[in-house]
Amino acid sequence: MILGAPALLSLAVSVTASADATSGARDAESKILVAYFSRSGNTRVIAGTIQRALAAELFEIRPDRPYPEDYDQTVEQARQERDRGHEPPLEARVPDMAAYESVFLGFPIWGETTPPVIRSFLRKHDLSGKTLRPFITHGGYGLGDSLAVLADHAPGTKIEPPFSIEADQERRTLNQVTGWLNEIGLR
Ligand SMILES: Cc1cc2nc3c(=O)[nH]c(=O)nc-3n(C[C@H](O)[C@H](O)[C@H](O)COP(=O)(O)O)c2cc1C
Repeated sequence: MILGAPALLSLAVSVTASADATSGARDAESKILVAYFSRSGNTRVIAGTIQRALAAELFEIRPDRPYPEDYDQTVEQARQERDRGHEPPLEARVPDMAAYESVFLGFPIWGETTPPVIRSFLRKHDLSGKTLRPFITHGGYGLGDSLAVLADHAPGTKIEPPFSIEADQERRTLNQVTGWLNEIGLR
């Protein structure tokens, strides 16, 4: 049978709705949460990999105001927020944190520490008594003081050794594209 565009659209809508219903049914049983912040996608890939491997629940940590698309503007804003200890409001909180025994927490290193929104996240959720497994991406300069920030902001939480990985696609891409535009005399 050939489906016309409206029929295809309604099929897509109903498939999406039933997928949501299925994952909703799993929510109550799952004891693992994967919470992550990612601006340019590196940490998001890891979060999705863990979530699928463990059939865990996924929560994206977002500040109520997104960071700029522009890399340099984000670096500058992040530097200012770090220096004045700003904790940006969260767009949303985990609806039922008490349901999880184990939380994978993912973030990139920003300015040699956790992004400010990770401090906000830890401030707004009670992780005491839980196991926290950090997964961290960085551009080659290591973890900075991020583990000390976690210990400080998540009292009573068992913090396991982190998984960390170097991932610097955005800056490398930006430098190479800018170099190319210079080379061809357009910049
Ligand atoms: C605002 C900002 C600050 C950064 N600061 C550092 C840093 O201090 N040390 C480092 O190794 N990488 C730094 N990076 C690189 C990121 O940690 C790295 O590319 C990370 O994988 C980005 O994760 P995401 O794609 O999930 O957002 C910084 C990136 C940004 C955007």
